[in-house]
Amino acid sequence: MSLRDLFRFFMWAALASFLSGCPGGKTDIIEQKCSSCHSSSVVYAQKRTVDEWGRLVYGMKVRGLKLTPAEEEQVLGTLGKYHSLE
Ligand code: HEC
Repeated sequence: MSLRDLFRFFMWAALASFLSGCPGGKTDIIEQKCSSCHSSSVVYAQKRTVDEWGRLVYGMKVRGLKLTPAEEEQVLGTLGKYHSLE
């Protein structure tokens, strides 16, 4: 494989992950992180302000949710975008 092929491969892989992240990205992180203790529909049933989501996610962490700072940002970003009152 030439360097050029390798480059092309990475471009396609990046594009594919970008495209698949678009429609699926809305709920994936919530499915992964928020559906182990209760159904994720508990989450989707609610609309809160970004502040309230922050407090709620903190509450989930107290109950045992494990999130890296990057994951927390993703979770709050998703909630703020699709399940927000603002
Ligand atoms: C370690 C277990 C655990 C994980 C993981 C978890 N939760 Fe919860 N969650 C709970 C428990 C237990 C309740 C039951 C109600 C309570 O204790 O307030 C709950 C209740 C809720 C409720 C309803 C609360 C209300 O007052 O109506 C929401 C919304 C919620 N969780 C969102 C989330 C979100 C968003 C995530 C992911 C970021 C998440 N949960 C991950 C344990 C968890």
